[in-house]
Amino acid sequence: MIRSVVRGNGAALPRRIMKNADFEGMVETSDEWIVQRTGIRQRHVAADDETTASLGEAAARAALSSAGMTPADIDLIILATSTPNNTFPATAVEIQNRLGMHHGFAFDMQAVCSGFVYAVATADLYIRGGLAKRVLVIGSETFSRILDWNDRSTCVLFGDGAGALVLEAEEGVGAITDRGVLAASLRSDGVHKDKLFVDGGPSTTGTVGHLRMEGREVFKHAVGMITDVIEATFGDAGITAEDLDWFVPHQANKRIIDASAKKLGIAEQKVVVTVDLHGNTSAASVPLALSVAVADGRIKKGDLVLLEAMGGGFTWGAVLLRW
Ligand code: ACO
Repeated sequence: MIRSVVRGNGAALPRRIMKNADFEGMVETSDEWIVQRTGIRQRHVAADDETTASLGEAAARAALSSAGMTPADIDLIILATSTPNNTFPATAVEIQNRLGMHHGFAFDMQAVCSGFVYAVATADLYIRGGLAKRVLVIGSETFSRILDWNDRSTCVLFGDGAGALVLEAEEGVGAITDRGVLAASLRSDGVHKDKLFVDGGPSTTGTVGHLRMEGREVFKHAVGMITDVIEATFGDAGITAEDLDWFVPHQANKRIIDASAKKLGIAEQKVVVTVDLHGNTSAASVPLALSVAVADGRIKKGDLVLLEAMGGGFTWGAVLLRW
């Protein structure tokens, strides 16, 4: 049985760090409110010369380097983003060109904060279907460009950044002991589209628009949706929370992460939390969290890792993999 095994990972963050206190002169808020309600202490904000493509390229180069590969080795690039450089062409194609790659194919995937989980699950299908052998999966976002900087209920929550994985086909025995992607579950339900959306687009307003969110409504649904899809993934893989080495959730809010882990019975010391450092970077949040936990030596080869995300749409999903 073919498995999609992680060969390398990487990340890239904008140079500028914005602390909670930096908002205090801009909107009516405080470091205390932001930390208490979300766990966020700082986020990175892109300068004019830092874009979804440039951050995605930097994360991709770091992932290739850690895999000991070059762009020549890659057949497919999937970029998860909701903040592309242009409406079209796909920013994945721009990254492909920046990498000097003129073979294979590349496309964007749009599932807002769940984008990276959707992209890993999709890459796994291409690999297992024999259509690609080595895939670069990137999550890159510049949400600072779509924030309403006068809206205190959203502007303090998001940040910019990128993360990437290189996945490669490897023969496994078809058991839970295999390395690579072991199970994935994806969900969406457009009935919730007005709870978290951007109020512009090419086919409606002809503008880019700004992020709008009914935070309380999103919060209300988040924990139930996250835990349901994770339990489905555990069921497919025939494991329980105790078998996990690491839980790497979407980094939107520390309270959502804590409540989900508690409901699932995942021990606190197995949860990777980076929302304090990066804020919510949408499709970049899971690969950025992975990069922190790999760099500090927590996630090691052979560890059982659960990725999870929930975002606009709503979309939500989980991927179980052995590192
Ligand atoms: N500073 C100070 N006060 C604020 C701020 C702020 N930055 N923002 C809102 N408030 C006020 C509100 O106006 C409200 O005041 P009121 O009681 O006088 O009306 C009060 O604080 C409480 O507001 P709530 O919205 O009820 O606060 P809550 O505890 O729900 O926290 C938050 C808000 C952080 C947005 C939370 O609801 C949340 O995290 N929601 C989920 C976000 C999420 O997970 N999104 C999914 C992924 S994102 C994606 O897909 C793009």
